[in-house]
Amino acid sequence: MSNSFTLTNISEMVTNNSAIGEGDLGVITNAAITVTDGIVSWVGPANNADSSVAKTDVGGRSLIPGFVDSHSHLMFAGDRSAEFAARMAGVAYSAGGIKVTTEATRNASDDQLRSIAQGLIKEMHESGTTTVEIKSGYGLDVATEERIVRIAAELTDEVTFLGAHVVAQEFANDAEAYVDLVVGEMLDACAPHSSWIDVFCDRGAFTSAQSRRILEAGIAKQLKPRIHLNQLEQGDGIAMAIELDCAGADHLTYLTDEDINALAASNTVAGLVPGADFSTRAPQYPRGRDLLDAGAVVALSPDCNPGSSFTTNMPLMIALAVREMHLTVDEALFAATMGGAISLRRDDVGHLSIGAKADFALLNAPSYIHLAYRPGVPLVSTTWKDGNVIFTKGDLA
Ligand code: NIG
Ligand code: FE
Repeated sequence: MSNSFTLTNISEMVTNNSAIGEGDLGVITNAAITVTDGIVSWVGPANNADSSVAKTDVGGRSLIPGFVDSHSHLMFAGDRSAEFAARMAGVAYSAGGIKVTTEATRNASDDQLRSIAQGLIKEMHESGTTTVEIKSGYGLDVATEERIVRIAAELTDEVTFLGAHVVAQEFANDAEAYVDLVVGEMLDACAPHSSWIDVFCDRGAFTSAQSRRILEAGIAKQLKPRIHLNQLEQGDGIAMAIELDCAGADHLTYLTDEDINALAASNTVAGLVPGADFSTRAPQYPRGRDLLDAGAVVALSPDCNPGSSFTTNMPLMIALAVREMHLTVDEALFAATMGGAISLRRDDVGHLSIGAKADFALLNAPSYIHLAYRPGVPLVSTTWKDGNVIFTKGDLA
């Protein structure tokens, strides 16, 4: 027997489907949604809902698709709060901090790594995120990277092998030998647990030539490519990322007009992670407005990691995108939901069309605009994934 429920008295429902509601966000006012067996089976004006399905009145709150976080580094151990404090006192951020986390991560047990990641995923649920990509990259040796992707695969379908996060300490004087290890034994061990391959192409990490080698090796093992680049300086990797059909090119704090036009003409989503720019006090935020004006698809993510951005909170990213990158609220919400889904090449999440996964968040607010209008306020009342409540404040009547 099928299992259905309806939420009704939704003040504003964002569907991200312009065919079924107003504007690009496909907003339906005074709406209802019906879920059957974990899938959206009906959406529309509350008056038209099927009266035979049990209804919950959500009291005039707004409903949005669950956030799709296409970029996270949840598999780590250790604490770098002192590094953050020093940075705020004037010490510059560098990729080198990754090695501090690597030492703690190698020393952590499977159970410790699993429980740290689970705790962060719980935070994500509390702020409305229902899909998360998880990267490796704090093991930097074959055994630890393999452990990380294996445990990550218990927690998400979107596992990314990022053995090429930085050159491991043991190879400090021979980066090419580390690349050999990544594309050889490490990739062999990690590919069975991963869907994606990623590389950090930037100052202090890998060159674009090394990055190409790493991504091509992953592609040859049927992993789909994505990339970190242009976080710390203007690099030369955008054309290569597009040529290899990276699904996401993330960070992009430094971009030329040529880079922006190339991204706009490509299938590569521009992944903006303003939490990293915020927490490293970057000299500038990415040119989000220019990317959208050029026609690029933008995804937003908190880039949760212990070094450059230790937050899981997507609403904060929406507020930063609106305030600092001049996205409209609608564009920022779209980037945090559909943008993430497109970056993960998923069509079943990020929107609330009939047939989509019943992943959504109810806000203690009459409008989704409050996500940017009330920065820092925990607005999520209840989060559903596959039609099941995965977080609730218990404030629904
Ligand atoms: O996404 N850019 C590379 N990796 C992380 C930072 C890692 C760290 O500092 O621990 C990021 O910002
Ligand atoms: Fe990252």
